[in-house]
Amino acid sequence: MLVRRITGKQFKTTFPTRTIFTELEQKELNQPRIKCRNRPYLAGAKSDKFPEYISMSVNKYFSGIKLKDPKNTPHMKDIALEFRKHIDENLKTHSAFLLKGLPTNGVDEIQDFISGMEYKSFYYDAGNAARSSVGEYLYTASDEPKDVSIEPHNEMAYLETFPSKIMFYCASAADYGGDSPVVFNRDIKKSLDTSDVYEKMNKKKIRYIRNLSHEKNSPYLTWQETFKTKSEEKAEKVMQRENMDWEWQHNGDLSLWNTVSATTQHPVTKEEIWFNQVTAAHSSYYKDMSINVNNQHLPANQFPLHTCYGDGEEITDEEVDEIRSATWSNAMSLKLQPGDVLLLDNLLALHSRMSYEGGERKILVNLSY
Ligand SMILES: [Fe+2]
Repeated sequence: MLVRRITGKQFKTTFPTRTIFTELEQKELNQPRIKCRNRPYLAGAKSDKFPEYISMSVNKYFSGIKLKDPKNTPHMKDIALEFRKHIDENLKTHSAFLLKGLPTNGVDEIQDFISGMEYKSFYYDAGNAARSSVGEYLYTASDEPKDVSIEPHNEMAYLETFPSKIMFYCASAADYGGDSPVVFNRDIKKSLDTSDVYEKMNKKKIRYIRNLSHEKNSPYLTWQETFKTKSEEKAEKVMQRENMDWEWQHNGDLSLWNTVSATTQHPVTKEEIWFNQVTAAHSSYYKDMSINVNNQHLPANQFPLHTCYGDGEEITDEEVDEIRSATWSNAMSLKLQPGDVLLLDNLLALHSRMSYEGGERKILVNLSY
């Protein structure tokens, strides 16, 4: 079978009696067929456990809505407040909320929408992604090269402090690719249930290792950008807060490492959640990037990021493959279109980005709790 279909009942969302939204129609839920196995520069994609294509079926944890009357549009803050109500009402059963066709294309208006949601915005501090600021608490989703497919991950799951929500706004889409597949943590946990790796990782925890450049040495993943400062002292304060160990290199580069649980407890549902970036932050992810074709000889712990067990034991290739395959096998195809807003429960839904060509793909992101 070419496309893995998720079977089972969809969870219906509930609506307040007087709402400005309506559910998306079937044709609006149609998603592109995304090649997965053997995709170039996709970490682990040569594994025969990888799905050929990402599932085009709508996952039961996904909710898609649109404005009932787009011609009679309320103020941006009112739409935001109604969207927040919709999320609050459905958060126990749903983890990804798509609002299609928000009538805006400007940063000012999207900031009105964000403040109208009334979540507390979260500063992107000590994050491991290449990302730039475009406004207050508003960033580009990723500045990685177009040919990189970013592995599904929960935002900042490698830190002690992380946002509980992540919201994407699509200002413009790529001509080809650039999809944003979503995966649900519960589905991954279910797939790993019979595997020893879940319990082993839960017991031993995960060590995240980072090798950050000084900006004078390389513009890619610098410690100045990571900690939003040029002061070593300020960077050290954040590392202390995050229980990190670190070592300054003679050339000004910075190596740091921290050990974090592979799971966490959801604050609302109290369930144990598979919540980490064990494969997305593994050296094999960087090794498979086109920009690293000449770095294949490097030891694993010298790539920009690497993960191992909390006691220093390396995670085997088979274990990495198993987790990656379980993740991609549960992914749901999704391509954001201009005007789309996607809000995820960051503890229960992973986000990703496929490589792309053509067009000015511009996705903005806001983190909150
Ligand atoms: Fe991310």
